Amino acid sequence: MSKKAYITTPIYYVNDVPHIGHAYTTIIADTMARYYRLKGFDTFFLTGTDEHGQKIEEAAKSRGRTPQDYANEVSGKFRTLWDQFDISYDKFIRTTDSEHKIGVQKAFKTMFDSGDIYKGEYEGHYCVSCETFFTDTQLIDENLCPDCGKETRIVKEESYFFKLSNYQEKLLKWYEDDEKCVLPKGKKSEVISFVKQGLRDLSITRTSFDWGVKLPKELNDNKHVMYVWLDALLNYITALGYGNDEKNMSYWPATVQLVGKDILRFHAIYWPAFLMSLNLPLPKHVAAHGWWTRNGEKMSKSKGNVVDPKEVADAYGLENFRYFMLREVPFGQDGDFSQKALIDRINSDLSNELGNLLNRIIGMSGKYSDFKITSINVLDFHKKELVSVMEHLKMAEINLNELQTNRYLEELWKALTIANQSITVYEPWVKMKNGENDFAFATVAMVANILARVSILLHPVMPKTTTKIAKAFNFEISNKSYIDYIKSENLLKDFVIEKVPPLFQKIEAELLTSPAPSVETKTEVKIKEQDSLISIDQFFETKLKIATVLEAVEVPKSKKLLKLQIDIGEEKPRQIIAGIKEYYDAQDLVGTQICVVANLKPAKIMGLRSEGMLLAAKDENGLALIRPETKKQSGSSVG
Ligand code: MSP
Repeated sequence: MSKKAYITTPIYYVNDVPHIGHAYTTIIADTMARYYRLKGFDTFFLTGTDEHGQKIEEAAKSRGRTPQDYANEVSGKFRTLWDQFDISYDKFIRTTDSEHKIGVQKAFKTMFDSGDIYKGEYEGHYCVSCETFFTDTQLIDENLCPDCGKETRIVKEESYFFKLSNYQEKLLKWYEDDEKCVLPKGKKSEVISFVKQGLRDLSITRTSFDWGVKLPKELNDNKHVMYVWLDALLNYITALGYGNDEKNMSYWPATVQLVGKDILRFHAIYWPAFLMSLNLPLPKHVAAHGWWTRNGEKMSKSKGNVVDPKEVADAYGLENFRYFMLREVPFGQDGDFSQKALIDRINSDLSNELGNLLNRIIGMSGKYSDFKITSINVLDFHKKELVSVMEHLKMAEINLNELQTNRYLEELWKALTIANQSITVYEPWVKMKNGENDFAFATVAMVANILARVSILLHPVMPKTTTKIAKAFNFEISNKSYIDYIKSENLLKDFVIEKVPPLFQKIEAELLTSPAPSVETKTEVKIKEQDSLISIDQFFETKLKIATVLEAVEVPKSKKLLKLQIDIGEEKPRQIIAGIKEYYDAQDLVGTQICVVANLKPAKIMGLRSEGMLLAAKDENGLALIRPETKKQSGSSVG
């Protein structure tokens, strides 16, 4: 029996049409599903839509539609796009499917029966847009959501709770025992520190609206519907028939669960806790990618800067776009979309290095051997090159298994570089002239073998392009060729090359006016492995100013905080709350100058409004404020 793989995307909210961020998650997941199929795994790939909750109910209402009718329309848009994008999903789940609802009720009942769910009362600030509760200290400006900035509402209601607090130690043990359970590593550390701060029980039902899954009837409680995140997370098992016909549950546990960094907490904390309560195994990898921004800014409809993936794929080619997204950004980091970067990748990586290599092989084999390729002498002349190609291909797979898509592609391109350089170095045309035909044939056959091997491993990202290459070389990309040419390192049998048209067109200028009033020429953000570099424009988005301290007092009951009134050249003084009490006496600060970030959103710290942040440097010897060397006017800009 073949091994099983289960790959999932998050299910998408139906209050928004698909954009580049959704496409990114789905394309990585599609790549992983194709890769596992290539490796011979019996693979199940799931995607779908998340259709319940207050946000959807209100979005439908504001359009004069029923939630179901509205969800049908938007869910259809996601499905259509994934079909247009050749996304190889095996199931498209909708949380309004009746089997899903039955499965969710069964899960709720199981958790209830095992004593993990109890009834209580919840009061808190709720952000409808994020479908999340926040505590007082998390809010900005008393009632604004810290994630999206929208107003929160105070919700007080009877609620069922999940005993998340019971799972803190078990979760920490999972993170410790299973090194790669959350990827990448940096994100895993964030999850661990969040859990170490302590987990509170989770409110998992709502009574204030009813667009959601009802509680199991055995509970006899009609007032409640389930919290949308409980309903949504369970899709990963209801899609396999949990609570219904469970034959596909043999795919569980998931191999890779792809998520954006914004929803990692739900997937790396709540979801495994629910699974433990249900006595089910935990996913092998929960992998969180970064966000795509435009000109360094979050994309939003109101800003009009959303990148439409269909438009980009139509203009530049779907597979080119797939390659770009996976190659451009280190997994887990944020990336900035720019047509310029996309064009560079197409012209240089794809056209010059990949497409041209095929053209050169076709050209040389046509000239020297009537399109016939024989691998017979390859190992005699070119063993060294093939050994180092295989090292890169192995690294490529190691990286892909850890979702490091950019490094995986980099390794494949290193193999292509060996092929391209070999042509330049060994000059088969000179060898032919000198009568060293065997050597020349061996070089052509060696580069053809490299290209064939790279095509097999590139297939998950560029299925159509690589199929064209394989067709030109008269073989098929499949699990069999993966085993033959990658795992067993066999060489291609002698074959006749079929001439194919060039794989890529060079692109001279940007092809889209929208979504791109060419902001990328202003801000070129190149992503480094560890740090995201910012442009000068982005730096200047932070307004740093010199301030004079007018008043400073200690914040009662706080070990760390001082409350300062400062003059930053505005009509009225500003108040800032700073954690410097351990290092400075309040009175010593009055009259001195400091440097502050002046355009931060106001925040509440211990119930006090703070309208800025001062700059300080800290090391093992303590903390020092950053100040101007000589006195400057209050409000002078720093930068
Ligand atoms: N419905 C929830 C997920 C429930 S899964 C049980 C949800 N939906 S979403 O539609 O808002 O987002 C889905 C995915 O799209 C997330 O992984 C999110 O990170 C991703 N993206 C949305 N905008 C994005 C970018 N701008 N860039 C990259 N991905 C982002 O959350």
